[in-house]
Amino acid sequence: MPDVVVMGLGHVGLPLVQEATSAGLATVGYDVSEEVVAGVNAGRSHVGGVSDADVTAMVAGGFRATGDPRVLDGARTVLICVPTGLTASGTPDLAQVEAATTAAARGLSPGTLVVLESTSYPGTTDGFVRPLLERISGLRAGHDFHLAFSPQRIDPGNREWGVRNTPKIVSGYTAKCAKRAIAFYSRFVENPVLSRGTREAEMAKLLENTYRYVNIALVDEVALFCAESGIDVWDVLHCAGTKPFGFASFRPGAGVGGHCIPVDPRYLAAQAEAQGFSFRMLAAAQDVLTRMPGHVVGRTLELLDEIDVKPAGSRVLLLGVSYKPDVADVRETPAVAVASGLLSAGAEVSYHDPYVEHFALGAQPVPRAGELDEALREADVAILLQEHTEYDAASLNRAPCAVLDTRGLVAGRGVTLL
Ligand SMILES: NC(=O)c1ccc[n+]([C@@H]2O[C@H](COP(=O)([O-])OP(=O)(O)OC[C@H]3O[C@@H](n4cnc5c(N)ncnc54)[C@H](O)[C@@H]3O)[C@@H](O)[C@H]2O)c1
Repeated sequence: MPDVVVMGLGHVGLPLVQEATSAGLATVGYDVSEEVVAGVNAGRSHVGGVSDADVTAMVAGGFRATGDPRVLDGARTVLICVPTGLTASGTPDLAQVEAATTAAARGLSPGTLVVLESTSYPGTTDGFVRPLLERISGLRAGHDFHLAFSPQRIDPGNREWGVRNTPKIVSGYTAKCAKRAIAFYSRFVENPVLSRGTREAEMAKLLENTYRYVNIALVDEVALFCAESGIDVWDVLHCAGTKPFGFASFRPGAGVGGHCIPVDPRYLAAQAEAQGFSFRMLAAAQDVLTRMPGHVVGRTLELLDEIDVKPAGSRVLLLGVSYKPDVADVRETPAVAVASGLLSAGAEVSYHDPYVEHFALGAQPVPRAGELDEALREADVAILLQEHTEYDAASLNRAPCAVLDTRGLVAGRGVTLL
């Protein structure tokens, strides 16, 4: 009988498995994707920050992945780490949480601890997960089984902060549930932080990501204003960033990406809307952020005009298409909107990214450039979208083409900043 079943072996689930396994917990992973199950069992990682060698060590330590829900029967602890995305109309999509909870409920036994780790709006654990678990299993939360919510703070690719040393918010449906959840996480998390209840923990997670969302939108809008006013936004940010207190630095760019920052505030907005609460900050931030790719396209067209190249047939090279530096993840990357705007203007778009092997707009692949220097020689304009370590200021300054720098990395001749 496993100590822990981790449901969903993605960016959140796999690092959790790694820590639980190394703490000596008998851990099984349950995932509905056959590809993920087969890959992990064969020692292959599909998650940044977890290497193939890490997965091989996990498997050697007794971990295995399966797509068979019977593994949930009688598990002592079940961690739900499945995606919480958006529907086509931009509203919270809890279909995968529902499917995972249903599977967990079918195998639920007295004494089991079920923890939701997926990000969601306040009230999900108590109002969505609990009724499903209780109805299907016939057991009662807080009496027969324990129910908790503990949001994940994993930052894929971050070498300093991982599952073990990042403080982890833990909450329970009842005080006893919380106690049991704290005891569980204390086995492999150095600093569990008890919250008053599940709604506070759910809201804390949304606050953390909304804080980034709103502040990025703020500096983006400052950048738009500075562009119109002839003010160097990067110098503004450098100067303001020297304040040792009361100011946290955020940097403008082509927009926000990934499965958290653009998505989580939508969960908060939807919940607020359902309650008739007008969350004005969120709407304003969304408005600014959705304008940023268009701004980058507009600046590129201006740059082409300056160098006397017509947009139709111009060669535009995107540098870095992932949503953040030094990762391969292109989920929700603003590079898609930038590429699509440029294609609509008639440009021939290609990309260079040391991490991303395939980049496409729907079914239409964007050609990948090979060697960086050669790609820069062949382009009319290169747009630095992501400051991967490979892109150093000196070589971009030497680029024979015009460069539009959206990250404030390069400053020199032939380079236009955002
Ligand atoms: N990626 C991050 O950096 C991050 C950070 C903090 C929180 N989160 C949150 O954690 C949750 C999981 O995100 P992720 O990035 O790990 O997702 P992911 O897409 O990387 O992985 C999710 C995995 O769950 C599997 N899955 C889907 N439905 C399932 C089901 N019914 N049963 C079992 N497995 C199922 C998928 O096949 C996939 O392998 C989301 O709520 C996300 O918002 C993510």
